[in-house]
Amino acid sequence: MEFSRLLLCLPVAVWLLVLTGADAAAAQRSPSCETRCGDIEVPYPFGLEEECAINRRFRLNCTTVDGATKLLRGALEMTKISVKDNKAWLKTYIARQCYNQSRKEMIYENAWTNVTNTPFAVSADDNNIIVLGCRSLAYMRSDSYAIGCLSTCDDRVPFRNGSCSITHGCCQLDLPKGVRNYQGYFNSFYNTIKIWRRTPCNYVAVMESAAFNFSTTYLTSTEFYDRDGSKAPVVMDWAVSRNTTCEEARINTTSYACVSDNSHCITNDAGYACSCSSGYKDNPYIVDGCKDIDECLDNVTYPCAGVCENTPGSFTCSCSRGKSMIDGVCVKDHRKLIIWIAPVVGTSLLLVSLGGPCIVRKIKLQKVKKTKQKFFKQNHGLLLQQLVSHNSDIGERMIITLRELEKATNNFDRARVVGGGGHGVVFKRILDLHVVAIKKSKIVVQREIDEFINEVAVLSQVNHRNVVKLLGCCLETEVPLLVYEFISNGTLYNHLHVEGPMRIRIALEVARALSYLHSAASMPIFHRDIKSSNILLDDSLTAKVSDFGTSRYIPIDQTGVTTVVQGTMGYLDPMYHYTGRLTDKSDVFSFGVLLVELLTRKQQFIYRTNDGDNLISHFENMLATNNLVDIIDPQVMKEAYGDLQEVATLAAICTKLRGEDRPTMREVEMKLENLSAKQKLVPSVTTTRRNDEDEAQVQYMPIER
Ligand SMILES: *[C@@H]1O[C@H](CO)[C@@H](O)[C@H](O)[C@H]1NC(C)=O
Ligand SMILES: *[C@@H]1O[C@H](CO)[C@@H](O)[C@H](O)[C@H]1NC(C)=O
Ligand SMILES: *[C@@H]1O[C@H](CO)[C@@H](O)[C@H](O)[C@H]1NC(C)=O
Ligand SMILES: *[C@@H]1O[C@H](CO)[C@@H](O)[C@H](O)[C@H]1NC(C)=O
Ligand SMILES: *[C@@H]1O[C@H](CO)[C@@H](O)[C@H](O)[C@H]1NC(C)=O
Ligand SMILES: *[C@@H]1O[C@H](CO)[C@@H](O)[C@H](O)[C@H]1NC(C)=O
Ligand SMILES: *[C@@H]1O[C@H](CO)[C@@H](O)[C@H](O)[C@H]1NC(C)=O
Ligand SMILES: *[C@@H]1O[C@H](CO)[C@@H](O)[C@H](O)[C@H]1NC(C)=O
Repeated sequence: MEFSRLLLCLPVAVWLLVLTGADAAAAQRSPSCETRCGDIEVPYPFGLEEECAINRRFRLNCTTVDGATKLLRGALEMTKISVKDNKAWLKTYIARQCYNQSRKEMIYENAWTNVTNTPFAVSADDNNIIVLGCRSLAYMRSDSYAIGCLSTCDDRVPFRNGSCSITHGCCQLDLPKGVRNYQGYFNSFYNTIKIWRRTPCNYVAVMESAAFNFSTTYLTSTEFYDRDGSKAPVVMDWAVSRNTTCEEARINTTSYACVSDNSHCITNDAGYACSCSSGYKDNPYIVDGCKDIDECLDNVTYPCAGVCENTPGSFTCSCSRGKSMIDGVCVKDHRKLIIWIAPVVGTSLLLVSLGGPCIVRKIKLQKVKKTKQKFFKQNHGLLLQQLVSHNSDIGERMIITLRELEKATNNFDRARVVGGGGHGVVFKRILDLHVVAIKKSKIVVQREIDEFINEVAVLSQVNHRNVVKLLGCCLETEVPLLVYEFISNGTLYNHLHVEGPMRIRIALEVARALSYLHSAASMPIFHRDIKSSNILLDDSLTAKVSDFGTSRYIPIDQTGVTTVVQGTMGYLDPMYHYTGRLTDKSDVFSFGVLLVELLTRKQQFIYRTNDGDNLISHFENMLATNNLVDIIDPQVMKEAYGDLQEVATLAAICTKLRGEDRPTMREVEMKLENLSAKQKLVPSVTTTRRNDEDEAQVQYMPIER
């Protein structure tokens, strides 16, 4: 029997040998290749000579201009290249609009960036669109769309360095994925010369989020970021090939770029690229370029309280003899030592002599198992940390194995994807007779891992009819996979602009869920990202609040916490945005915006009146002047005319500037409860079927002119 298995394994071993032989013949960099340009390192696949780069697109020029050494790709200046995450830093022009005193007019300096025929694409995760100015409406404009925002200056609240806020001359937006070509662009009707004494220049830049820190001097001088205010750093993703998927790339073994052992193919905003497998580092584009990480040398990232031992791709942490590990600490072991060495050695020898080439495969399987265990440990640890901090636990039944999910999704077959968006893809499958949605992250970054873990921690403690139910999670992948009940009818965002279901009832259901999260759950939970694309609707159009990636538990004795501001522009509480102080009233604000959207069927972000007012302030004006009819959606008028005034008033007080002036979610719930009791609503049925679980957090504005 062992013998027949050996025969089966032989061809595999031979094939493996052939493959490694082919790899060795592929791309190798000659030792004579220059690897530096001034202070900048130029790693393969980039090169300064044609034969030193993987292909012509990766050829760079090192030139000296006015005594300064510059690394250039065509006309683009590069300041840093990272092979670890396939990123490069470029300097690009900032668009600005400055007042010229002698000519008494605004002078535009529009800036173009076009990386279409290069290996680059602007990284959506690492950059922001930044608009500066006191009366500044500016866009980042690409071939088919423009994304922009409006910044104003409100002198009632003092300006602070380090705090970017739309009412204080600064606004920041997320970028869409895969941008290669854009222009900074100003709205010339809105931006007037009247305020040049206050702000001589307006700016719009696409730049590295981490490199931007708002300074009040940006508003008062003609300098921004760079000394001459003309260039900003942008982080690019780069890829070997733009239009090739990993599957396609692997087929051609002569051109496949991931030649190192322990490397694999990944896709990013630019196309396909390579990465060293976890536990390895350095350069996946060079044969043997991925080197084992000695985890034992870094006890901060890889803590080990016992004896640390490095292994290929991983490490072990054990206790010295006579001790065993309990909760990460080595303690004296009282159990008797069992004589085990002899049988183990004996069995190993027997296996080696019989197994032969099969061992290659066994080792591989072993490795897969090990990585799974490693991720499980990491993720489980993170999750427990979160849960322990508020005395709860996650039921074992919620933990699902990767094997089960792979089986259910046919190895995450793209054909079974039913939705996707900003964060990941969603598969619809049947698991244990439930129809479920499986959410899988598209990218692996720490923020994503944290958000997925956070979502498990929050949702595993919540049980409410109007909150999407988390059935389980799989912790064996780097970013955990989440399994939810399947909500069939898409998001409220889709319905808002398509049909007019029973809006007051939906509002009430969302209010119930939020009120429960704020008060009834064991520790208050603030959602932080309430918006129409995060409200799912089931068959009977019952609302389910989803996407708890950025939610926060708030200890009961604290009225609020200071956090990094997260949320979606347009729905974000302006006071939270400004102070960074998160309270339950921040959700109330977002809910108010949602309510206004439900009533008007207009999108807060896109909407602007001729005077430049946004939806919320326009709505408040209309309410105050008794002109609601002009802004309320006609269909809503038909459905709920009786109580419109009351719902509109509720929306207006929810969106008051000061958090103290807004009601609590509980009060909002009661109010809506009363109104809907009067109305006797009957659920309606619609036929739209879409499922975009999380809408990208980007707002698109129509191009003017
Ligand atoms: C580098 O410079 C040479 C000579 O100036 C030019 O012919 C070539 O196109 C440049 N290559 C790149 C990648 O910019
Ligand atoms: C203003 O415009 C004049 C005339 O075109 C030009 O000479 C001057 O340099 C400009 N000033 C600034 C500050 O750009
Ligand atoms: C960007 O560059 C590509 C190739 O260099 C060119 O075909 C395209 O027209 C450019 N786009 C714009 C908007 O200039
Ligand atoms: C912000 O920092 C700049 C110097 O970087 C300083 O001149 C300015 O006064 C500061 N503004 C405030 C409000 O502290
Ligand atoms: C931004 O600047 C402010 C004040 O100048 C400083 O307190 C803050 O730490 C800076 N933030 C970052 C992320 O550098
Ligand atoms: C890549 O695909 C896009 C659209 O699918 C196409 O417009 C473009 O020409 C392709 N580029 C290359 C280099 O093949
Ligand atoms: C594989 O890639 C090499 C190098 O790019 C190319 O010359 C060859 O034609 C490709 N083979 C196939 C089958 O596409
Ligand atoms: C990490 O290692 C250093 C040097 O080996 C040692 O001084 C330090 O105490 C260790 N830290 C922890 C947390 O084990």
